[in-house]
Amino acid sequence: MATQRTLSIIKPDAVEKGLQGAIIARLQEEGFSILGLRQLRLTRQQAEGFYAVHKERPFFQELCAFMTRSPIVVIALERDDAVQHYRKVIGATDPAKAEAGTIRKLYGASVSENAVHGSDSEENGRIECSYFFAGFDLV
Ligand code: CMP
Repeated sequence: MATQRTLSIIKPDAVEKGLQGAIIARLQEEGFSILGLRQLRLTRQQAEGFYAVHKERPFFQELCAFMTRSPIVVIALERDDAVQHYRKVIGATDPAKAEAGTIRKLYGASVSENAVHGSDSEENGRIECSYFFAGFDLV
């Protein structure tokens, strides 16, 4: 299986609960290498740009308001089969439907406050990493 990159975002709900360390430790246990990591607070424009693919969805405004509520942690990850493995580790978008032991099941509260974001394809993994990190930042 080929080495891939994927973007993790620890969302405002999880940062507010102090779950950054637990989530990062889990990702390392799962064999991901951390290529880049930083904490920031998204502006409304940055949130809308990141989630532009969802702009026609009824939850778009709610999603952008939530993502700008307080700081997030963005992490560029690398691993064999990173996109699929990360999605398995975080679980379904709705924590109520996520498998036991997944990050969203453990730490998510609802479909909007679901603790972490994950890239949905290899192409989007690369695009999303480059939304937050310059190439020379990833080591
Ligand atoms: P994420 O992986 O960040 O990608 C898009 C996000 O939209 C998703 O996680 C959810 O948090 C959010 N989302 C999806 N469906 C809904 C919904 N019905 N209501 C609110 N937020 C949603």
